[in-house]
Amino acid sequence: MNIILLGPPGAGKGTQAQRLQQERGLIQLSTGDMLRAAVASGSELGQKAKGIMERGELVPDELMVGLIKDRIAQPDCAKGFILDGFPRTEAQAKALDKMLTETGKKLDRVIEMEVDEKALTERVVGRFSCAKCGAGYHDKFKRPKADGVCDVCGATEFTRRKDDNAETMKTRMAAYRAQTEPLLPYYSTRGVLRKVDGMAAMDEVYRQITGVLAGT
Ligand code: AP5
Ligand code: ZN
Repeated sequence: MNIILLGPPGAGKGTQAQRLQQERGLIQLSTGDMLRAAVASGSELGQKAKGIMERGELVPDELMVGLIKDRIAQPDCAKGFILDGFPRTEAQAKALDKMLTETGKKLDRVIEMEVDEKALTERVVGRFSCAKCGAGYHDKFKRPKADGVCDVCGATEFTRRKDDNAETMKTRMAAYRAQTEPLLPYYSTRGVLRKVDGMAAMDEVYRQITGVLAGT
């Protein structure tokens, strides 16, 4: 099963994709994580993306399409994948259609996660993640079970993203509204779009997503 999680910054795409990967064996393809790894490694892509991401703008389509095309072609994606953060523009959505057709793959569902804007800022500003395994946490909504220790791998170091501040959130939200929101009618007319209530608690959001997938 191949799905897209679509929603504004902080909607919970990464949180739900991680759980779907753990419990369903689908592969999480997070373009944000791929870009952050490229920035950390200092690669050519990372050097191009760094400033753009820190400002909260979108990385050029051709770079993003190349990144996803290579990843989807890898053998592990044959068991199904979750696109988290891609596509984000109409050009990316069209390129995705083309690469799926060319590789004989199908898009089963696009799941829109709806969340109020005020809640989004609170979510991104309080977010942190394990420096070793990447597990996601939140100061208020998802603290590690033992203070300062990652639930998943036991590491004791955590990181915060540079773009997770109220100021950059304004640019990220503007990019979402102008360039990504138009994908909702794009997928709705194809009959693959379903909505879940992203304001609900994390377990409830997961329940709604698995309900949508069971109906496919
Ligand atoms: P990316 O990393 O994709 O960031 P984003 O879309 O802004 O999404 P986030 O990761 O901020 O949020 P999320 O929806 O995954 O929420 P999460 O689950 O973490 O992209 C970063 C940048 O890279 C972009 O700005 C752009 O520059 C570039 N980029 C990436 N892809 C691109 C592309 N395709 N094209 C061009 N540029 C691209 O949850 C947030 C917090 O809330 C967490 O702390 C979590 O614990 C908490 N939380 C989650 N769910 C709930 C809940 N139900 N209740 C309470 N708290 C919750
Ligand atoms: Zn960890």
